[in-house]
Amino acid sequence: MCLPCFDKRLHHQRKSLWVERLKARGNESFGAPPLYRNMSMENWRGLVPPAADEWIKDPDQNLLIFGGVGTGKTHLALGITRGFLLEQRPDITPVWIDAQKLMDELRPKDGEWCDSEDALERVQGANLLILDDYAAERYTEWSADRMSLILRHRHMHMLPTIITSNKGPKEMGAVDERLASRMACGKRIRLGGDDKRKTG
Ligand SMILES: Nc1ncnc2c1ncn2[C@@H]1O[C@H](COP(=O)(O)OP(=O)(O)OP(=O)(O)O)[C@@H](O)[C@H]1O
Ligand SMILES: [Mg+2]
Repeated sequence: MCLPCFDKRLHHQRKSLWVERLKARGNESFGAPPLYRNMSMENWRGLVPPAADEWIKDPDQNLLIFGGVGTGKTHLALGITRGFLLEQRPDITPVWIDAQKLMDELRPKDGEWCDSEDALERVQGANLLILDDYAAERYTEWSADRMSLILRHRHMHMLPTIITSNKGPKEMGAVDERLASRMACGKRIRLGGDDKRKTG
């Protein structure tokens, strides 16, 4: 078998594996909680923002999804992740993490001098990181430093990151200038409308 045919076959096999995994465990396969298990583009109502499809095809930069409470930021981020996995990179395993939880994991525990290397390595090196619910205003200077370190590392290694946040780039810049500047090189999607939890 020639090399391109071999690669094509491998791609199909990996894709089938992901189809099976997603059928069995949904988004829990890459760390999302059970509540978010079935969020995908298939059950997204309304128009999918064109930037979402563009990013799936060309993800070599960050993606910021921002908007009000319940506007579908997490749902869209997970739909995009699935699209990226199935259409582009079935060879990778993304990492989904809640931003607040990440900060808790990274913070040095009693008696430790440095932050948790395991958590740091896991998020720094993930082929695709989905950092959910980043609320810059909640964090301390120390958290902002960590976040900046993670994003700088990922940027230098050309590893894409999807961030969901209640803050757009401008508002984010007011509380966290470094993060806003790191995000400026990527795509943005603003979600408007009502809280879908209330309106269904
Ligand atoms: N366009 C949509 N189509 C179908 N369901 C949607 C859509 N947008 C949101 N939902 C549903 O509405 C609920 C809230 O969405 P989601 O959790 O993605 O919002 P969010 O913007 O991340 O909220 P928060 O600001 O609290 O993090 C979920 O159950 C989600 O599946
Ligand atoms: Mg959310």
